[in-house]
This record gives sequence, structure tokens and C-alpha cells, in this order.
Amino acid sequence: MIRRRLLRPLARNRGALRIRPGRRRHVRPCAEIVQSWLDTTPWLPDLHTLPETERWLRRVLFPRTKVRVAMQDRTVAGFVAIDANDVVQALYVASEMRGARVGSALLNAAKRLRPQGLRLWTFQPNLPARRFYARHGFAEIRRTDGDNDEGVPDILLGWAPAAARARDAEEIAA
Ligand SMILES: CC(C)(COP(=O)(O)OP(=O)(O)OC[C@H]1O[C@@H](n2cnc3c(N)ncnc32)[C@H](O)[C@@H]1OP(=O)(O)O)[C@@H](O)C(=O)NCCC(=O)NCCS
Repeated sequence: MIRRRLLRPLARNRGALRIRPGRRRHVRPCAEIVQSWLDTTPWLPDLHTLPETERWLRRVLFPRTKVRVAMQDRTVAGFVAIDANDVVQALYVASEMRGARVGSALLNAAKRLRPQGLRLWTFQPNLPARRFYARHGFAEIRRTDGDNDEGVPDILLGWAPAAARARDAEEIAA
């Protein structure tokens, strides 16, 4: 009886998505999510292997940014990484989890971490991501014709909450 009562909350929570700080144990599953996207995106050149991607996450991304992982039960469904300059350096959702609001939950977590605003680079051919960011209030700042390692044209997008936009307007008017 006691055991059943103890188990009930666990059963009720099964399947809930939870946003958690990224830890070293999350590096490998996050690297697999990134690599799977790199390997299945035809307009991206094949520049990196899984060990290289994992090394980049372990040595650069995780130590230098704030990482949040979306956990579905014990599985990493996606992650977001924001640097000290309010730039989203990575946002990836596992392919089988896309379209289920995991990306929205991670982006909202990033907005809570940086209420003053966010910026990010996205590749121009990445139309699903561009639609996703536009729905989340990101607007174009500028474009390059491929000024990145991949040589693929990209766009700098920015999101500013209403309060930050009003403050900027005041500063410009002053
Ligand atoms: C872009 C990305 C982060 C969005 O995350 P997501 O969890 O798929 O996003 P959400 O489910 O919150 O919203 C996606 C929207 O597309 C729709 N959608 C449906 N099927 C989808 C699918 N297979 N893939 C993506 N979006 C899909 C959703 O319904 C939703 O639309 P809505 O808000 O109008 O209902 C994710 O698709 C992804 O990881 N893509 C590959 C990596 C990438 O491009 N990262 C961005 C680099 S800048």
C-alpha cells in the first residue's frame, strides 16, 4: 500500500518534458543529436565527424555557455546553449521529437535566462528553423553570403522583449 502511494507520483510524471541545466553526462547525447542533423542536412557540407562534434561540445560549448537540456523521462530530447553575449550558440531537437514543442520550451527557457534579449545565427536554407524563430518573435538583423566555416549564407536574427525595445527607443530619442 505504502509502496503504491510512493510510486504514484512517478507514474503521473512519466512523459513530462523537463528543462534542466546541462551536465557533462549530457554531452554525448547532445553531440549525437547535432551530428544526426549535420548528417541528414543535404545543403550542409560534411565537415565534422561525431568524435569531433562531441569534442567541440565537451571542450568549448558546455564550458563556455549556459546549457539547458530538455529531458523526456531519462532521454535528452534537445538542448540550447547561450553564451555570455546573449547569443544562442546552439538549439537542437532530436529528429524524432521535432514538432512536439521541445524547441519552443528550450527557446522560452533561453528567453527567461536572457530577458534583455537574444541573438542567433541561422543558415538561410534552414527554412523550418527560420519559420520557427519568426513565430517566436525573432527578426532579421543582417545577412552574410556565407561568412562561416560551412560557407553557407546565413542570417543574424534578434529577439528583444517589448520592454527592451521601448528602452532602446527612449535612448534613441534622447
Ligand atoms: C528548429 C527546431 C529547433 C525547432 O524545434 P521543435 O521542437 O521542432 O519546435 P516546436 O515543436 O516547438 O515548433 C515547431 C513548429 O513546426 C511544426 N512542425 C511539425 N512537424 C515538424 C517537424 N518534423 N520538424 C519541425 N517542426 C515541425 C510544429 O507544429 C511547430 O509549428 P507551430 O508552432 O506552428 O505549431 C528543431 O526543428 C530542430 O532541432 N531542427 C534541426 C536543427 C536546427 O535547425 N536547429 C536550429 C539551428 S539555428
